[in-house]
Amino acid sequence: MISVSNLRKKYDAAEALKGISFEIQKGEFFGLLGPNGAGKTTTISILSTIVEPSQGEISIAGFDLKKNPTACKKNIGVVPQEIALYNDLSAFDNLLFWGSLYQVPVEVLKKRIDEMLHLFGLYERRNEKIKTYSGGMKRRINIAAALLHQPQIIFMDEPTVGIDPQSRNLIYEVIAKLHQEGMTFVYTTHYMEEAERFCDRIGIMDNGQIIAQGTLEELKSLSKIDETIVVSFSNLDDVLFQQLATTHNSIVREDGVVRFLSSDAKADLSTVILECNRIGLSITHIDIQGVNLETIFLSLTGKQLRD
Ligand SMILES: Nc1ncnc2c1ncn2[C@@H]1O[C@H](COP(=O)(O)OP(=O)(O)OP(=O)(O)O)[C@@H](O)[C@H]1O
Ligand SMILES: [Mg+2]
Repeated sequence: MISVSNLRKKYDAAEALKGISFEIQKGEFFGLLGPNGAGKTTTISILSTIVEPSQGEISIAGFDLKKNPTACKKNIGVVPQEIALYNDLSAFDNLLFWGSLYQVPVEVLKKRIDEMLHLFGLYERRNEKIKTYSGGMKRRINIAAALLHQPQIIFMDEPTVGIDPQSRNLIYEVIAKLHQEGMTFVYTTHYMEEAERFCDRIGIMDNGQIIAQGTLEELKSLSKIDETIVVSFSNLDDVLFQQLATTHNSIVREDGVVRFLSSDAKADLSTVILECNRIGLSITHIDIQGVNLETIFLSLTGKQLRD
């Protein structure tokens, strides 16, 4: 359904994409996971014909992007990272505007807008101006706008960043429904939880390259490390974490816990406990777990996925 080969993008100074390639099958949910500046938005912008590539071959739904951009565009819906809506128009009028760009007959369009407003739980507020909406509600309308011409492929660029849990869960429900109905997804995120939850296959991006791609299982098997010691503390703060990081370079901080990468967790356990005690961290819980995308990223790049 989508084929990208040796895609490069050079901006004046920097090379944002250094030759990436991937294939996405019909109905597949493909994720691009990577930290800030990895090149996720550049990739999405090129695939949605907003940015011109410097080099590379792209085909979407059987059409060559260079030769036939209009045909490609008809098959895709794009949810950009930055919300694109008119603040002084109502949600309904915004959707009418975005839908009309795709030449959907107006009666059909109005019906679809109503369906979308119901799907995203905003039908009751359809006549209120977008400027009265919360960030999460705007996001929902932004996604609805991308679906009005019923594309078979959707690109979503970090659609859940900085929104309330209620909106996020609703968006997750819609995403799961669309995926189940057979839509093809290209989804960028720097949340490993989202990638693990939704993606059939994941491309791990860093610094303009896809450094590994495959199913979650395939990525796990690539990792040189297969165990992690997960420690919870009662007094973890930035200073103590930094102190820990100076002695241990293979650690990741997640919400309230620290994960130590290890090739033999049982053998390393006592060292980890002693080190934590030495710098005054008080342990409340210890667990030995497998790897996740965060630790795979760390073992591949030496960096944390999240800042
Ligand atoms: N218009 C531009 N001009 C110059 N450099 C750019 C431009 N757009 C992006 N870049 C650079 O290209 C690189 C990749 O940026 P991109 O926005 O694709 O990353 P990203 O993975 O989407 O990051 P984020 O998670 O912050 O959204 C960065 O180094 C960025 O500074
Ligand atoms: Mg981006």
